[in-house]
Amino acid sequence: MNVSSSRTADPAKIRADVLVVPVPSPPGDLDGPLAAVDAALGGLLAAVIKDGEVTGKAGQVRMLHTRGDMPAARVLLAGVGADPDRAAWYHAGFRAARMCHELGARKVALLTGDEDAGDLRAMAEGLGTGGWHLHTFRTGRRGGPERPADLVVAGGGLTPRAAATAGATAHAINLARQLAETPANHMTPTILAKEAGKVAATSRTLSIEVLGPRELKQKRAGALLAVAQGSDQPPRMIVMRHRPPKAKRTTREVLGLVGKAVTFDSGGVSIKPSAGMHEMKMDMAGAAVAAAVVRAAARLRLPVAVTAVLALAENLVSGDAQRVSDVIRMRDGTTVEVLNTDAEGRLVLGDGLAHAVELGADTVIDIATLTGAVIVALGDLIGGVMANDDALAAELIATGRANGEPLWQLPLAIDEYGKRVEGTFADLRNVGSGKDPGTVFGALFLARFVPDRVRWAHLDIAGIAWRDTPSPYHQKGGTGSPVRTLIAWLEGLSRG
Ligand code: BES
Ligand code: MN
Ligand code: ZN
Repeated sequence: MNVSSSRTADPAKIRADVLVVPVPSPPGDLDGPLAAVDAALGGLLAAVIKDGEVTGKAGQVRMLHTRGDMPAARVLLAGVGADPDRAAWYHAGFRAARMCHELGARKVALLTGDEDAGDLRAMAEGLGTGGWHLHTFRTGRRGGPERPADLVVAGGGLTPRAAATAGATAHAINLARQLAETPANHMTPTILAKEAGKVAATSRTLSIEVLGPRELKQKRAGALLAVAQGSDQPPRMIVMRHRPPKAKRTTREVLGLVGKAVTFDSGGVSIKPSAGMHEMKMDMAGAAVAAAVVRAAARLRLPVAVTAVLALAENLVSGDAQRVSDVIRMRDGTTVEVLNTDAEGRLVLGDGLAHAVELGADTVIDIATLTGAVIVALGDLIGGVMANDDALAAELIATGRANGEPLWQLPLAIDEYGKRVEGTFADLRNVGSGKDPGTVFGALFLARFVPDRVRWAHLDIAGIAWRDTPSPYHQKGGTGSPVRTLIAWLEGLSRG
């Protein structure tokens, strides 16, 4: 999928299979792109609006056949609703892209007028993600192209650079979805490391380092090794760096993105119930988001230094699996009583956080499908944030809200619960007891691996990374959240 821009605002000159036009609610007096389409179609658009068939309601998509009146065979009228926010623009694009996909379009044009560039970018991003499907394992495709259609943003609404940015963002979202949806037998730590290598090869500002079991032993990443020991698949720690030329950097700070990558989480000997276990192929969604975001940072040439640290392991059961009550030693030397092998995310992330701090990250955001409890608290549409720096949390929340990926802060509650992560037979225990708050407990455990001088936020994306049921604006499966938010936040940093 490729996103480009053109200044042409005349439907007669736009070469595409489908011409998408945003429609506000109510459509009002036709001007700009709507007037141009109406004129090209001899008044048809005004007529269907008058008949009440095209209302501009959020989510509405109506199709008109152009029957030779313009090069595009069809016009899609995509309702954005009344007073739309960024999410509504993204959703309108996503819906329209789904229909374009069903129609088999290879080239889609979005006809723009004087809409806000940020809104148009969101719609272009939706157009770049709504037609995407994991097609790798389908033998007989049931119609539709395998790749999302190419997109031209016509009418001058987006600069070439803004169009390319929308394309890179959409691509990053689709990458995160692809990695999360690919089943665990095709997405082992070894394979995921190879995929990360391919990502790193896409840009000169990116580099990658992959640590295998030997290096992990040398580095004493005892938790990552302990989680992996029940599986025949060896663990990996991946470091992906985006380093813009020094002269171009806006800050000397290094941003760390630490991602949980449990390629399959059976729970280990604290095994999960079989209903729903299949979903645990997505337990590497945090790392997928981190990898997608560094890739976008490189593609957009963002003038900030980003270091992604991904902790990869498979959590299975075997004769050598961790037992409940085992004591392990983490990368930073802390000892932990493993009282539940299903609380493995905090173990691998603790090693990942310590590594990112050692590599010099000043600000760290970790992204992890860490707790089922965050789904109880916030459901599948709102992500959890906990932070040692309320300003950082507030920035992420504001960016998330502006981009239609809401995040909600839960307290780190060190004064209240901070001591509860301490163990009886070791420094820490990996699960709480009784009335301990599950999601907060996970964050408090992680906090032990982040020194106070490092600004840190923990994003628990267990709810938002995956959808069980499709909605008009989501397919079933990986969502890629919160890739859009993190890219937007990084762009904000680089503006200073
Ligand atoms: N990967 C799971 C969390 C999860 C649950 C992600 C549902 C996505 C959907 C995590 O490793 C886990 O198993 N957490 C346990 C922690 C508990 C043992 C303290 C949980 O939430 O049950
Ligand atoms: Mn688990
Ligand atoms: Zn897990």
